Amino acid sequence: MSQNISSVLVENRVFKPSKDFAKRARISSMEQYRKMWKESIAKPDRFWAREAADLVWQKKWTKVLDWKLPFAKWFVGGKLNVSENCLDRHLGTARQNKAAIIWEGEPGEKRVLTYQQLHREVCKFANVLKRNGAKKGDRVIIYMPMIPEAAVAMLACARVGAVHSVVFGGFSADSIKDRIEDCGASLVVTADGGYRRGSIVPLKKNVDDALKAGGKNIKKVIVFKRAGNDIHIEEGRDVWWHREMEYVDAKCPPTALDSEHPLFILYTSGSTGKPKGILHTTAGYLIQCYTTCKYVFDLRDEDVYWCTADIGWVTGHSYIVYGPLSMGATAFMYEGAPNWPENDRFWRLIDEYKVTVFYTAPTAIRAFIRWGDEWVTKHDLSSLRLLGTVGEPINPEAWMWYHKLIGGGRCPIVDTWWQTETGGHMITPFPGATPTKPGTATLPFFGVDAAIVDDDGKEVPMNVGGKLVIRKPWPGMLRSIYGDKARYKQTYWSEVKGSYFAGDGARRDKDGYFWIVGRIDDVLNVAGHRIGTAELESVLVSHPAVAEAAVVGRPDELKGQAIVCFVTVKNGQQAHPELREELRKYVRHVIGPVATPDDIRFAEALPKTRSGKIMRRLLKQVASGQVVTGDTTTLEDLGVLAKLANDD
Ligand code: WTA
Repeated sequence: MSQNISSVLVENRVFKPSKDFAKRARISSMEQYRKMWKESIAKPDRFWAREAADLVWQKKWTKVLDWKLPFAKWFVGGKLNVSENCLDRHLGTARQNKAAIIWEGEPGEKRVLTYQQLHREVCKFANVLKRNGAKKGDRVIIYMPMIPEAAVAMLACARVGAVHSVVFGGFSADSIKDRIEDCGASLVVTADGGYRRGSIVPLKKNVDDALKAGGKNIKKVIVFKRAGNDIHIEEGRDVWWHREMEYVDAKCPPTALDSEHPLFILYTSGSTGKPKGILHTTAGYLIQCYTTCKYVFDLRDEDVYWCTADIGWVTGHSYIVYGPLSMGATAFMYEGAPNWPENDRFWRLIDEYKVTVFYTAPTAIRAFIRWGDEWVTKHDLSSLRLLGTVGEPINPEAWMWYHKLIGGGRCPIVDTWWQTETGGHMITPFPGATPTKPGTATLPFFGVDAAIVDDDGKEVPMNVGGKLVIRKPWPGMLRSIYGDKARYKQTYWSEVKGSYFAGDGARRDKDGYFWIVGRIDDVLNVAGHRIGTAELESVLVSHPAVAEAAVVGRPDELKGQAIVCFVTVKNGQQAHPELREELRKYVRHVIGPVATPDDIRFAEALPKTRSGKIMRRLLKQVASGQVVTGDTTTLEDLGVLAKLANDD
């Protein structure tokens, strides 16, 4: 019999929004939230039509939703342009000369682009795309550093109706080639190089290698000069961004595009080895980005909003570019690493630019904790008014540290659960309304009908773990996996009949709050007991000696799976056998004997992707003594892996 142990860890701390925050928030009470949420579920057409009316339409839709499970069309018959909504509509208003993007390069250069300037750059670059053969519907690969031109390239694609596929700058040549071939791209936009932790990432060289290995469909490569490193220019194929910009004028009317016209494809790894091209379209995606920025970040004209994600991930798409700009907000953008030249770069930037809203990942927060409080406390962070997290469950200790040290105890934290597939926030607190508890993403966003179900699709009782599903379509949902409708259906809509299966395990507490345990494939089954690796990790890192922990399953003849914990210790702590025993006892004590780790391995660091996700697949292989296989190109530091494999 499966016993649920999630409920053992009960979080009793509750943080209510302050009266001052609530007073000016768009959603300022739970009553208001509930009323609007109910309407959004009962009358989605009415609810979303009202939100959509905030945007600029070249032709109004005739029908809000056309749902033929599992295929959705939103705002049927409507025509609009995403770049017009992010730029043109702010011109001729008080926002015209307001900063759209404030940028700092890793070496320290500073730039500000007002809405008017950004509009001009985007129009010009849209003409450059056209000049180089890009037409409506063509796919364009963007492989850029974190510079404003990455956003310019995305918005310019949107303007002409080309479909962008941004490839994260940390991906290898092979990954670029695979993506080019999968989506049949004809054009690449890149830079000579980008800065990362003091060195130059040879972006153009990677593109050259990708095109040597394949990607024969590529006709043109547009190269932005960023780092000034030596590069090869292939005559007839490669052109310089700055030269091309000289040939074009700044007039480029936004193309009227169907609501369901593809906006972008973004690749994400799935349970199989081949990345999936997640397809997002125009109107629904934009509305998801816009409404979540409006209600969850509650963005204001005076905000300086900073999302630390890379533009190569969905968080960068929705919450650096499309969401904030459609709101007419000011987005801060930083090119480089948080620990360059020193561990306090982020806090220095918040202090200098007076950042008010800060959105980052739990894994980054745990790194900050490890680096030590003194890097934080020497800076003035009093400009901050709201904090956010995304990407993984946040352990209550990291939440508390974030709340106290970064937020000064006064900033609400929005722990936002969502996925590449969902386009925008799905389960999240509303900062002026929702009482938060460390470690939970709390309650569904408008229009989100989330539930936790068992293997038969039946909703489970309170505090029992199960599969997280979404039972109704929502505007920002992925429309398909590019070129593979069957895989879309199979991956997301076949596990639980009639529902979208997110791949995550979760439970709901007595208040209906969702506690995301992590990917179902990260949930262990030890002797018939369901144990969340995230819960184990949370316990481990709450031990004073532990900095980071990752828990994976190892096949075990007797119990099905055994628990293997990879642990890094805090500065000044020693990884000795006594500590190993102490940690075993500690976990046993906090969760129960069922969760006693079988193996605790100390490591100097954990293998992570560039986006900061722990590479569990690799750890599982290391834990079970297998040779490490598969794509490791996103690993931040390959040396980490070698050390882990040698650890005994
Ligand atoms: C996890 C990132 C707990 C989850 C936007 C999901 C989270 C996966 C949270 C999607 C959160 C994201 N709490 N888990 N607040 N946010 N996740 O596609 O497992 O890179 O399925 O999208 O991250 O990751 P993706």
